[in-house]
Amino acid sequence: MPTQRITKKRNTHRNIVLALITGLMLSGCVGGQLGKHNSNEYRNGMVVSASPLASKVGLGILKKGGNAVDAAVAVQFALAVVYPNAGNLGGGGFMVYRAASGETNSLDFREKAAALSSRDMYLDSAGNAITDKSLYGHLAAGVPGSVAGMVEAHQKYGKLKWADLIEPSIELARNGFKVSARQARELNGLKETFTEFNPDGTAFLKAGDWTEGDVLQQQELANTLEQIRDHGRAGFYEGAVADSLIAEMQRGQGIISKEDLKNYKAVWRKPTIGNYKEYKIITMPPPSSGGIALLQLLKSVETYPLKRWGLNADSTVQLVVEAERRVYADRAAYLGDPDFFKVPEQQLLDNAYIKNRMSNFSWNKATPSAQVKEGNLNGREHEETTHFSIVDRDGNAVSITTTLNGSYGAAVVVKGAGFLLNNEMDDFSVKPGTPNMYGLVGGEANAIAPGKRMLSSMTPTIIEKDGKLFMVVGTPGGSTIITSVFQTILNVIEFDKSMQQAVSAKKFHHQWLPDEVYTEENTLDSLTMLKLKAKGYNIIPRGSIGRVDAILKTKWGYYQGGADPRGDDSIAAW
Ligand code: GLY
Repeated sequence: MPTQRITKKRNTHRNIVLALITGLMLSGCVGGQLGKHNSNEYRNGMVVSASPLASKVGLGILKKGGNAVDAAVAVQFALAVVYPNAGNLGGGGFMVYRAASGETNSLDFREKAAALSSRDMYLDSAGNAITDKSLYGHLAAGVPGSVAGMVEAHQKYGKLKWADLIEPSIELARNGFKVSARQARELNGLKETFTEFNPDGTAFLKAGDWTEGDVLQQQELANTLEQIRDHGRAGFYEGAVADSLIAEMQRGQGIISKEDLKNYKAVWRKPTIGNYKEYKIITMPPPSSGGIALLQLLKSVETYPLKRWGLNADSTVQLVVEAERRVYADRAAYLGDPDFFKVPEQQLLDNAYIKNRMSNFSWNKATPSAQVKEGNLNGREHEETTHFSIVDRDGNAVSITTTLNGSYGAAVVVKGAGFLLNNEMDDFSVKPGTPNMYGLVGGEANAIAPGKRMLSSMTPTIIEKDGKLFMVVGTPGGSTIITSVFQTILNVIEFDKSMQQAVSAKKFHHQWLPDEVYTEENTLDSLTMLKLKAKGYNIIPRGSIGRVDAILKTKWGYYQGGADPRGDDSIAAW
């Protein structure tokens, strides 16, 4: 397909997404559910996810005696059915876990580049990046990790029977569920794309338009889930489902092979852990950049009197922006898959190093990003990831962020198996050292190599205070993930917000390049804007930043949820 056509489609897609976000903000949907969530605190367990149906599935598992990991496995599969924008079987993600005993762990089920991938696979003969190939269609997909991840998580920590965790999703796929108004709009907006990439049709296409309340049934996905229920890992990476995936690759000139599927392994990794004041931050290590960047940000602002300045005061915004500028510059140079690139984690988190990075920051004027050297930012990052947070009665906690990358991934539904291919290959630096269409430059650390995991920003995080569980937090949002998690944490710890208020609060974002401060509408008052502009900050309003789903444990031992009103997100608790 000609690049120009796909670019147009991508732009149309992006415009639809922006229009949806703007429409929702103008229609007052933002913040709609606050009161209800705010007043609710629970003792026995809580699930906060992007979908009320998925949260309900998770709660059902908790009530059946399942622990937080059981519930997380069930929610991951449920989201693949009821939130196919980002919930997935064909994508990947990260889990951060903290047991009630204080044991911590993290699981990397990020996708990998296929064995036949190569550093220059998205370049034309003149060496120019054909970026659309990493965004749409079969070649955009990395080897999926989600099913292997869930099997690993369940084998290590699960309590209930595996089949019991998949059954609710099979029912949802087989009998269908009612699409929300938001989902109907999104599906209608993608009709042309789905038709193009799925010439034989998919469950996401129907005659006429989708409207709120229409039932979406996914029979092929239900069959695939049954294979996973009955055969675990082999039900996806081998047998009929794997055959369908390979046939799909052959139809669309994709390169994932049977060997790639068989060889895929999710990896337990030592979480990245650091302190902010009296809080212990347990977060995701590479191949996510999120954990290291989050700790760098927290350490960069730790010694300043944020509480006295207040939320979104000019000094607060300036400090946070300057910290973000420096941290995102580091992110691009030094972060990549640790199995392929030595990530200098200790140096990046060294207190003296961070102090030194902040030493050239001036209160009088913005530091131009051009003067902040170190590395290059990874290319376009998509915002259609999803996060869920879960706690159980015993105090075990799970924080999972999972993704197909773009909304509905590569837009290809595997024929006969009913799940979407991811377009995660676009998270690699398609052409290291060369600016992409947004003026961002990719780093060598994140160049494509067979079997390598693409760099991520996903930041599933758990926080302890005084040795006890304090918060479970995470969000989708591409490059804005790190700043959204950072600001949500500050909102609670520094600005005394409830979990729901912290999640709902407007966010702002800076990522070094481009040298712009993005703000959700009405984040900053006009005087603050004037002051910051006078110092040289280029402030650009935009739609939603982040979609945080989080849980706070109060000092009285209750769970307090924060479900992001920017989406259909929902708390289920008892
Ligand atoms: N695909 C978004 C991320 O991994 O950061």
